[in-house]
Amino acid sequence: MKMIEIEGGRKLRGSIRVGGAKNASVALIPAAILTDEEATICNIPEITDTDALCDILELLHVKVNRSTESVVINPQEMINTEIEEQYSKKLRASYYFMGALLGKYKKAVMHFPGGCSIGARPIDLHLKGFEALGATVKNEDNKYIVEAKELKGANIYLDIASVGATINIMLAAVKAEGTTIIDNAAKEPEIVNVATFLNNMGAKITGAGTSTIKIIGVEHLHKCFHEVIPDRIEAGTYIIIGALCGEPLRVDNIIPEHIDSLLSKLEEIGVNIEIGPDFVEVLGMEEKLKPTNIKTAVYPGFPTDLQQPFTVLLTQLPGKSKVTETIWENRFMHIPYLKKLGADIEVKNQTATIIGPKKLIGDEVVATDLRAGAAMVVAGLLAEGTTRISNAEHILRGYEQIVEKLQLVGAKISIKEI
Ligand code: EPZ
Repeated sequence: MKMIEIEGGRKLRGSIRVGGAKNASVALIPAAILTDEEATICNIPEITDTDALCDILELLHVKVNRSTESVVINPQEMINTEIEEQYSKKLRASYYFMGALLGKYKKAVMHFPGGCSIGARPIDLHLKGFEALGATVKNEDNKYIVEAKELKGANIYLDIASVGATINIMLAAVKAEGTTIIDNAAKEPEIVNVATFLNNMGAKITGAGTSTIKIIGVEHLHKCFHEVIPDRIEAGTYIIIGALCGEPLRVDNIIPEHIDSLLSKLEEIGVNIEIGPDFVEVLGMEEKLKPTNIKTAVYPGFPTDLQQPFTVLLTQLPGKSKVTETIWENRFMHIPYLKKLGADIEVKNQTATIIGPKKLIGDEVVATDLRAGAAMVVAGLLAEGTTRISNAEHILRGYEQIVEKLQLVGAKISIKEI
């Protein structure tokens, strides 16, 4: 098991460069098997989710060539075989191989996907989408068998604007016969990045980024080169760290529009930020800060993946602030640990009420999931004394070189095996 140790209470200055978006990359890597030639993807983050997906590619006999610049994926000699549990359970996004294998071979056999325990996380909308395209879905011994004689375009309305279902249906529909319309589609920037990748291969997708996506099936997908967008959640996490510990802290290589909801909240509470074309510099806090309320929502609303790190910031604001989580039913597992560090927070149903400002004092805490782990890093940097975060593997799943990047701006942070 890995543990991160932080000596908190230090000011951080300098700049941090954000890597490629985890939630785009984890879809792009499975999607690459849809090409009949070779795909080169650059700016893929060096995180353990990338490793887990490349392990599945190797299981499918896909040639993978990873370098610091790019990942070259060549599926020309691949096989379509069952994705066993030890592979699928490492991350949620393994489910993207269902859409990609169905789209390529009209058959996919894989065990249940894994991922953070932030909710029940059903995939009924994915499966309903596959069935609408003409597939049958069987569920035996913890695995799904999805297959179709032929895939035909269809009109699919999503009951919930699900990121995963939108992308998985796109992967299954790009080579289907005829036209597919996804209505009430999710609009996250990662979906646009995946649609652009598929179009670079010769797919015909329009409307990505809006709630109606149209896909005209094609027979062949060719060679392509693609770049992953910057990770808006990694960017938001460092900007929150900058608001609490920056003197000043610049976060580079980002698309500020992708985190408008966060930046406007920071300005509302009194954080001074300078927004550049591809960077945000956090200059410090006003004398008089204001409490605030947030409610997570689908894009472009306040991202649920920044809810936990942002809660740490709210512990330092005067008065009462509220956080309402609307996407995941179990995403307050960081709160008992923030209270252990000295925060004053009460949870009722899906709303946490935070009273501040409260001084945080370092202690032993646990990373219960990826973003709760990120919140523990934010709290540890702020807290006086030493904070030790166990289960730090969760954090490495989604934050590329987080320890090194923070050391570069003056943090006293280290990671070790225990
Ligand atoms: C993606 O998860 C992200 N993961 C999540 O980030 C993120 O929290 C989430 O979108 C929302 O923004 C990846 O991209 C790999 P959804 P996904 O399908 O696709 C319900 C992180 O920290 N739902 O948009 O799994 C579901 O239960 C991770 O990086 C169904 O009911 O999320 C949830 O309440 C955590 N049936 C809501 O929809 C379905 O078939 C949104 O889920 C699918 C979803």
